[in-house]
Amino acid sequence: MSASEFLRKEHQEIMRLEKVITKSYKALYDGVDIPFSDIDKINFLIAEFLDSVHFTREEGSYFPCVASYDHLNKEIRALLIEHEFSRNIAKQISKNLKLWKKGQDKREPVARFLRTYSIFLIDHMQKEEQFFEKAEKEILSREEEQEMFEQFQSISAITEKVTSLLEDINYLESQDWAK
Ligand SMILES: [Fe+2]
Ligand SMILES: [Fe+2]
Repeated sequence: MSASEFLRKEHQEIMRLEKVITKSYKALYDGVDIPFSDIDKINFLIAEFLDSVHFTREEGSYFPCVASYDHLNKEIRALLIEHEFSRNIAKQISKNLKLWKKGQDKREPVARFLRTYSIFLIDHMQKEEQFFEKAEKEILSREEEQEMFEQFQSISAITEKVTSLLEDINYLESQDWAK
């Protein structure tokens, strides 16, 4: 498998999380109660699966490798800005959830920021997949693709972490509000 394929596959798992997020904001808008602990889990998955695992692979390996050819720089800059946007929305979700737990009615902002996050995810991953395609065709060599892929797989702690994050997604998908 190549690094580009690997990241695309990871996007498929992330899309499962996106579906859960869509279910959650729709449920909240419909007045359905979701346990705070489930919304916490969504936040946790955004922080761990997106920020610390997936974005790190992109920001730490894939983007720098492409950028080393001094190509697609504009695209990379735009994707990095979107990663920052992701972090900001995630902060808004957790800030409002915290206030909601303390008794303020924050159902609407929590639902709104979850919705914003889902829109971000769909848009960002579409753009990125076009970017992967270009990088694959125009820049990256077979060896580089292979090397990065091996790098992604070499840290077993991260592989184990992803396995447990996927279990969390399974758990959320099986909740009544998510069906
Ligand atoms: Fe990304
Ligand atoms: Fe990505």
